[in-house]
Amino acid sequence: MSCNKNRVTLHDKTFEEMIPAEQIDRAVAQVAEQINADYADREAPLFLGVLNGSFMFMSDLMKKVEFSCELSFVKLASYVGTSTTGKVQELIGLKNNIEGRHVIVVEDIVDTGESIEHLMRSLSGHNPASVEVATLFFKPNSYSKSIPIKYKALEIGNEFIVGYGLDYDQLGRNLKAVYVVVNE
Ligand code: IMP
Ligand code: MG
Repeated sequence: MSCNKNRVTLHDKTFEEMIPAEQIDRAVAQVAEQINADYADREAPLFLGVLNGSFMFMSDLMKKVEFSCELSFVKLASYVGTSTTGKVQELIGLKNNIEGRHVIVVEDIVDTGESIEHLMRSLSGHNPASVEVATLFFKPNSYSKSIPIKYKALEIGNEFIVGYGLDYDQLGRNLKAVYVVVNE
């Protein structure tokens, strides 16, 4: 990884800063505020993060949640390089009993919606009291599913981004800001 102030090179691609860390912080705070209002009087909801991409969003979101809650993760994979394979693999499945529980799925990014649809279908089989989705990024022009995405921190176009948990073939997750691929 080579890095100057506004540009970073990962594998064979160069990315430039698109969303500064402060803007991400503000967007996470807004989502936390909505969730705090909606879940204040519900019995210990479960935040269910989708690994790997959601780890940083989950961490910052949890620090802003003001009610008693639980946390767990599942692990899915669908992307190779900068495009989706269209097939969702479940690498670590659900380890919690969610029957009668309020579940908030925490995603890094909802793109085509393939992954979230797959996960929602599998969760609904376990009879939760409710399931909502909180995603850091949403690509409205790419999304082709009907599942409502209730909490969206930031909306972007169809560009490929990295940073703040998101990767390009596993690199770039540690970046504090979000970077977009530069077309050369
Ligand atoms: P979907 O199944 O097409 O909605 O894709 C969701 C998953 O693909 C996300 O959870 C990410 O892991 C990955 N993904 C989608 N868009 C991007 C991107 O712009 N950068 C990095 N990963 C992405
Ligand atoms: Mg993901």
